[in-house]
Amino acid sequence: MSRVGVVFGGSRGIGRAVSWLLAERGHRVVVVSRNVEAAQATADSLPGGEHVGLSCDVSREQEVQRAFETITKTCGPVGYLVNAAGINRDALLLRSKSEDMVSVLHTNLLGSMLTCRAALRSMLSKGGAIVNIGSVVGVKGNAGQCVYSASKAGLEGFTRSLAKEVASRSVRVNLVVPGLIRTDMTAGLKEEDAGRRIPLGRFGEPKEVAQAVLFLLESPYITGQVLLVDGGLRLVM
Ligand SMILES: NC(=O)c1ccc[n+]([C@@H]2O[C@H](COP(=O)([O-])OP(=O)(O)OC[C@H]3O[C@@H](n4cnc5c(N)ncnc54)[C@H](OP(=O)(O)O)[C@@H]3O)[C@@H](O)[C@H]2O)c1
Repeated sequence: MSRVGVVFGGSRGIGRAVSWLLAERGHRVVVVSRNVEAAQATADSLPGGEHVGLSCDVSREQEVQRAFETITKTCGPVGYLVNAAGINRDALLLRSKSEDMVSVLHTNLLGSMLTCRAALRSMLSKGGAIVNIGSVVGVKGNAGQCVYSASKAGLEGFTRSLAKEVASRSVRVNLVVPGLIRTDMTAGLKEEDAGRRIPLGRFGEPKEVAQAVLFLLESPYITGQVLLVDGGLRLVM
């Protein structure tokens, strides 16, 4: 059955790969990012028709509300929600600026809470599925990434709790936890050095994470689950 799938952070990287797989499956995709041209360009490039690109800063409550009003008015009720919008501002805690801490927490953690709350308004009557994107750094911790790690660890508790809250209404909520994936976010890392630490010996591709996202969106009996897609990185961190 074709559904409306909303992908925050869908313009690039992991979110873009998720948007592609959803479109290939015949779903109508709403690609959301702050940069509306990038969101629209990705929406236009997807297979199938009638995909939509929208601008929304996920850290701003009113923008999120307005985005969901537009989506339900133009596309109908939301069946799938994927929260792939995320930023990092890596620094040792002693050197971290307060405004960067707030940006990271508001984008990565509060942003997903706001989109989930807004999406639930249509999902509670018809059912649906949500996948949030965490990070292996949220599971294992990493020096220089205290705030990012906290935002991603927070998503784990949030995902499990929300899964309990909404299971009786046929809404499932799961977390995909990537390791090191080849996107703009990791463009500054030396892949030869970092890749050597990963048991599978290389960075992951966005599509390899997207496949796990799609699996969880489509699996009717899985909720509250945390699925690592990290080439084994967690085992050696
Ligand atoms: N790449 C990795 O190795 C890796 C590993 C673990 C976890 N993750 C997580 O996976 C998710 C996707 O990462 P990625 O590597 O695909 O990153 P990316 O290539 O940098 O893409 C980030 C996406 O999020 C959007 N975005 C950023 N801030 C936003 C905001 N405030 N509101 C709305 N959209 C926003 C960006 O578009 P705009 O800039 O136009 O808004 C873009 O579409 C993130 O949550 C990240 O933390 C990534």
